[in-house]
Amino acid sequence: MGDLPADLRALIGGERDLVANCANTAALLWHRLPRLNWVGFYFLCDGELVLGPFQGKPACTRIALGRGVCGTAALRQTTIIVPDVSQFPGHIACDQASRSECVIPLLASGRLIGVLDLDSPDLARFDAETVKVAEAIATIVADGSLLR
Ligand code: SME
Repeated sequence: MGDLPADLRALIGGERDLVANCANTAALLWHRLPRLNWVGFYFLCDGELVLGPFQGKPACTRIALGRGVCGTAALRQTTIIVPDVSQFPGHIACDQASRSECVIPLLASGRLIGVLDLDSPDLARFDAETVKVAEAIATIVADGSLLR
């Protein structure tokens, strides 16, 4: 996986546009993290999560806070790791191939602006090292970006 946080910082450079940075981040993670079938962002808009830049199959557009893994991570403002999505009550199956999932809240100055969602076709894909890197990535994106 290499030094993904360092590579993302270099990729973002001085760019402050959230959508542009999330688009490049999704592409970077897609090409560098093996065994993913979906990776991307949802942004908090008017009290619900709305689909942002991603890689993978088309996904559900809107997720209410508290719904699914994404809405739960957003509501609790904490990372959620689901080793087996079939065991997560209310999991939203956008892609039937997903077997495990990790969702990380994007916090800008302590304020929730969205989530980073990673899905894998393998059970228990998201080990501690991968989650740590993904959290560092989410911090870089949230800290360095301004909403439109
Ligand atoms: N599985 C997610 C929905 C988003 S897709 O995985 C892209 C959830 O339960 O919130």
